[in-house]
Amino acid sequence: MSETDRIPADRLPPGRVGRAGNWAVGNRDGKYFAVSRRCRHQLADLSEGSLDADGCLVCPWHQARYDVRTGDMVEGPRGFLGYHGPTPGYTQLVRGYAHFLRLRVRKALRRGDDVVVT
Ligand code: FES
Repeated sequence: MSETDRIPADRLPPGRVGRAGNWAVGNRDGKYFAVSRRCRHQLADLSEGSLDADGCLVCPWHQARYDVRTGDMVEGPRGFLGYHGPTPGYTQLVRGYAHFLRLRVRKALRRGDDVVVT
């Protein structure tokens, strides 16, 4: 673990996502998680994403959704490059390959005033 793989816990209230080194770290209903930061679609920074009502991490660019427990993309992107809208076949294609290129998953734990990726 590097010293950069941590984030002050007060930046991660429930429902928030932040950056700790190469990890997107978040607070899902009081439980912390850490996944690798680069979206499997077009490499957006997932630490700038959000959590939806189901606790999935949503990519900030084309709204692909990830299960933060497994790193699997559970819903593909809605668009590509600068286009945002329906792309049914393409969406399924991306989701298909992302199933084999899941996000890396690590534990994130509270240690003192910080949340650290272990
Ligand atoms: S870069 Fe994440 S959905 Fe497109």
